[in-house]
Amino acid sequence: MNIAIFVSGNGSNCENIIRYFEADPDIRIALVLSNKPDAYALTRARRLHVPTAVMPKPQFGEKDKLLSLLADYEIDFIVLAGFLLYIPDFLVKAFDHRMINLHPALLPKFGGKGMYGHHVHEAVKAAGERETGMTVHWVNEQMDGGDIIAQYRTPLSPDDDVATIARKEHDLEIRYFPLTIRKVIEKL
Ligand code: GAR
Repeated sequence: MNIAIFVSGNGSNCENIIRYFEADPDIRIALVLSNKPDAYALTRARRLHVPTAVMPKPQFGEKDKLLSLLADYEIDFIVLAGFLLYIPDFLVKAFDHRMINLHPALLPKFGGKGMYGHHVHEAVKAAGERETGMTVHWVNEQMDGGDIIAQYRTPLSPDDDVATIARKEHDLEIRYFPLTIRKVIEKL
């Protein structure tokens, strides 16, 4: 099983996933793809000897280019880990129930356009939520709208600032995202 991880920025999840599957005989992180040439995630991947590719926004929408890149690396499954571009319909169709996304909130709350990274945690704080968490879901044509696979939650106190909320949620991602990927793949 060859996995491609799609990233746009820091890549802490990307690195964590690569390390988790490093010694796995059945699951290989075959490619890290970014829309941003300067994403730190690419540096992390290169250090861990994982092939990388950059496909900026205009090319990302070109069906033949993207699908042939994924075919070159014999990609079976896609993990979106902090990937911020809209996923074109042709990719959703080509990887139907073979592409998952990590979202830093308890969907369906705090999802959709503009809801990424710190914006999500700011919205959670502004809403006075008593808990937050992470969601892993299938990718379909609607942003953050695919069926939910797993959610992990953590309580919040009214004193928690945005940075604390972000840290609590990120701790869940580091702990549970690789495990969730493994479980999903085992059921395919
Ligand atoms: C993660 O917290 C992920 O949940 C979030 O971006 C962060 C990426 O961090 N994803 C989204 O907001 C998607 N809408 P990382 O680059 O350090 O893994």
